[in-house]
Amino acid sequence: MKDFKRSRRLRSSAEIRGLVRETNVHISDLIYPMFVVPGKNIKREIPNMPEQYHYSVDQLKEAVKEVIELGIKAIVFFGLPENKDEDASEAYAMDGIVQLAVKEVKKYYPGILVITDVCLCQYTSHGHCGVVKGGVVINDESIDKLAAVALSHAMAGADMVAPSDMMDGRVGRIREILDKNNFKHIPIMSYSVKYASAFYGPFRSAANCAPQFGDRKTYQMDPANRLEAIRQVEADLEEGADIIMVKPALAYLDVIREVKNGFSAPIAAYQVSGEYAMIKIAAREGLIKEEESMVEALAAIKRAGADMILTYFAKDMARWIRRNQ
Ligand code: PBG
Repeated sequence: MKDFKRSRRLRSSAEIRGLVRETNVHISDLIYPMFVVPGKNIKREIPNMPEQYHYSVDQLKEAVKEVIELGIKAIVFFGLPENKDEDASEAYAMDGIVQLAVKEVKKYYPGILVITDVCLCQYTSHGHCGVVKGGVVINDESIDKLAAVALSHAMAGADMVAPSDMMDGRVGRIREILDKNNFKHIPIMSYSVKYASAFYGPFRSAANCAPQFGDRKTYQMDPANRLEAIRQVEADLEEGADIIMVKPALAYLDVIREVKNGFSAPIAAYQVSGEYAMIKIAAREGLIKEEESMVEALAAIKRAGADMILTYFAKDMARWIRRNQ
């Protein structure tokens, strides 16, 4: 009699499981998000995001050294300005917080890939990602400002810009202004498929950027939509995006896969603050095992089709990979 399929043969030892493992997260897949604040001598843990910190610019030399020593090749900067205003003027100031952070890191570590988040929400008094007039976020004025932000980041030495605002046409406008100013070589990683997600909660307190009225649903995507994601990606590639991002990650693995199958552009996925906090805090409460949950979630994101992952776990994951792979 024919025996049944013995699937367990290939699960019988760690060695054999290693041989047949289909997905491995590599350190070179990881992008580490960092928050920069005004002031001096500041390394302050962010409430709701255990083990993530607000750094003042002078602390970056030390902080980025650790990242590099772990083998991580890329970081993404988020800035908290000194003052917010209607115009988001510190977002595109040459001595703005992100611009200073980029210069500082590039001075010590020219080899690390420095990506900058391009948005207005941390910098506007109302906390929206664009220009507000009469209670409405105005698209076309917003993209002019976003282009100015991206240009100022490139001038400061950023290697890549990553617009996260979700205004229409911003990728094209950023490409145009970069090209005109001799930054043809700077890639755009577009937050193309960014959902209006509750999982951004901890980030909004970390970046102090919660909208002061209304919500982001007039520009971020409805979590219920899949085909809309395809249209976003088509538009962004047409406008010149080099890397496409899907955000958040774990609740949108189907969308990552769909975008991966439908397009040849590299895909980034952002494991957002809420995804990070859920694992960290549940583990602290003894409900789940932290490392195993981290590895499982990141492998799932990679398996779904992400070529790279923005994650607050980057350092923890790099340590795990060094020990286990
Ligand atoms: C800014 C921005 C947000 C995140 C990244 N860039 C917040 C938002 O859109 O409200 C979220 C990142 C995270 O939750 O880790 N537009």
